[in-house]
Amino acid sequence: MCGIVAYIGNKQAQTLLLEGLKRLEYRGYDSAGMATIEDGHVRVVRAVGRVSNLEDKLEDLGGLRGNLGMAHTRWATHGGVTEPNAHPHRDDKSGVCIIHNGIIENYAAIKTYLAEKGHKFTSDTDTEVLAMLIGELYEGDLEAAVQAALREVTGAYAIVVMCEKEPETLVCARKGSPLMVGVGNGEYIVASDGSAIVSHTTQAFHLDDYNVVKITRSGFHTSTIHNVPVNPKVVQLELELQEIELGGFSHFMQKEIFEQPKALRNCFRGRCDIDEGRVVLGGVSGFTKELIKARRVVLTAQGTALHAAMIGEYLIEDLAKIPAVAEYASEFRYRNPIIEDNTVVVAVSQSGETADTLAALREAKDRGALALGVVNVVGSSIARETDAGVYLRVGPEIGVASTKAFVGQVAVLTLVTLFLARRRYMSGDMCAQMMKSLQGVPEKIERILEQDSKIRQVTEKYIERENWLFLGRGYNYPTALEGALKLKEISYIHAEGMPAAEMKHGPIALINEGMPAVFIANRGRQYEKVISNIQEVRSRGGHVIVVATEGDENIKRVAEDVLYVPDIEEPLSPMLTVIPLQLMAYHAAVLRGHDVDKPRNLAKSVTVE
Ligand code: AGP
Ligand code: GLU
Repeated sequence: MCGIVAYIGNKQAQTLLLEGLKRLEYRGYDSAGMATIEDGHVRVVRAVGRVSNLEDKLEDLGGLRGNLGMAHTRWATHGGVTEPNAHPHRDDKSGVCIIHNGIIENYAAIKTYLAEKGHKFTSDTDTEVLAMLIGELYEGDLEAAVQAALREVTGAYAIVVMCEKEPETLVCARKGSPLMVGVGNGEYIVASDGSAIVSHTTQAFHLDDYNVVKITRSGFHTSTIHNVPVNPKVVQLELELQEIELGGFSHFMQKEIFEQPKALRNCFRGRCDIDEGRVVLGGVSGFTKELIKARRVVLTAQGTALHAAMIGEYLIEDLAKIPAVAEYASEFRYRNPIIEDNTVVVAVSQSGETADTLAALREAKDRGALALGVVNVVGSSIARETDAGVYLRVGPEIGVASTKAFVGQVAVLTLVTLFLARRRYMSGDMCAQMMKSLQGVPEKIERILEQDSKIRQVTEKYIERENWLFLGRGYNYPTALEGALKLKEISYIHAEGMPAAEMKHGPIALINEGMPAVFIANRGRQYEKVISNIQEVRSRGGHVIVVATEGDENIKRVAEDVLYVPDIEEPLSPMLTVIPLQLMAYHAAVLRGHDVDKPRNLAKSVTVE
């Protein structure tokens, strides 16, 4: 979803707003815009495309002056990618100006009402309707007008509002889409996440749903849309600047693939008590009794996080012996799900802001489930709404295609599984052995990363093929799904992942001469079955690329290309077998000339349905 940044203080706003937009551009990037109040008048500049296009346009126009302003990168939901649809949007009567992340679901009815009142719309967006509604309700108090308007709308929003009649005031509000306020020295920075704040202040607070914050240079106060006072908690941002900079890599995705060993070491630190044979998870220890009594675990997520959740399903059933299921959050939330006593729901999310995952979590909680979060972004909505949870601790993930967060999610789900298993059936020795193997994963990933140039060469052979298959069994069926998603979302090659056995029930019809089929055939319970599936593809002319276990010479007889990973217990293998798939996707995107970190149509955090 989009990026929001706003400033009020003693500095000129434009430079700070542009820097903030660049830090947030990974969140959504089809167009951008900025507005400041200059000599009592709102001035707006907008441009289609990247933030750099806006920067060029600002330079051509002589820039925007003023020390109160707002800026936005858009991920279009209502109305095409055009300059008139770019934010900020203005009311045509009152000089109200707004930027918005989210969707105003009842915008059409409100638009009809406002048109009858004589408002003239210049865009196709829902956001402009909200700007006009605030303008219509403005009677000299911007905060009150925003509260009144938000009582009328349904949907999701993170907004910042300013108006010419109150040139010293910013009003911001949120429901469903993230927004936070950095508290500086006589200045405030409002932003979608901490990456646009941390270079100015490390003191910040998150808005909760239905919060409205009025900010002037002399301070701020927070209330609800019903004007009930609220006291937000100012916290210390844990973000470090170098974590959100490229650091010599060509792309954030490349950096994040190569920092997975370090990221996992951070993830494991302090959580594996080998001597006691116990996993130590401070974030869930308060619910140990409830977890031990768990009779079913529902994991819910979207996209890559769902693939991690699916691996969690296998882990929890296989090692903790608790019935488990991974569900698309977007389906679970509307399916009228049955939640029995002693059900635990686990929301898996890198951003902690995915709208469907947040809604599924709320649905399960409302039905009595104990809610756990497996989340990367500290203080995110999902992290704050779960009863307990475990942070990934893999550091900020900027690349839109998730890599280190996926491996972090699988690692944390493995820790949670061992935490449960040890308190149910698993011996201390077995748990200690699994933790030792887990702690060996970073070094094994380093060995795989050393094959980067070979993986690039293999990828290059198939770069012109427009349809790929990814196939795996057991723990590596979700890994195959993840490999397919990685390839399609950044190289735009169509790829389909599936259980290897499923291929002969239809998809095998797709196999034609030279079609790439990527198999995960590491050492495991179903190795021989996977070999049979490989033969089925090869006998029809498919070209087989296999991720196999080091030392397996047999596999060379049945594959055009073999990418080896170190041996490891099968339940831990997805953290290794996914690495070659991540690198294949990365190289495919680079070789095809695409923008690896900002793939077309995508956004890093999908905060709308
Ligand atoms: C990951 O490569 C995708 N960009 C996307 O599927 C992502 O995993 C999904 O939107 C879930 O995001 P979350 O982990 O922040 O909830
Ligand atoms: N719904 C608004 C629009 O389409 C906001 C989209 C966004 O979050 O960037 O302009």
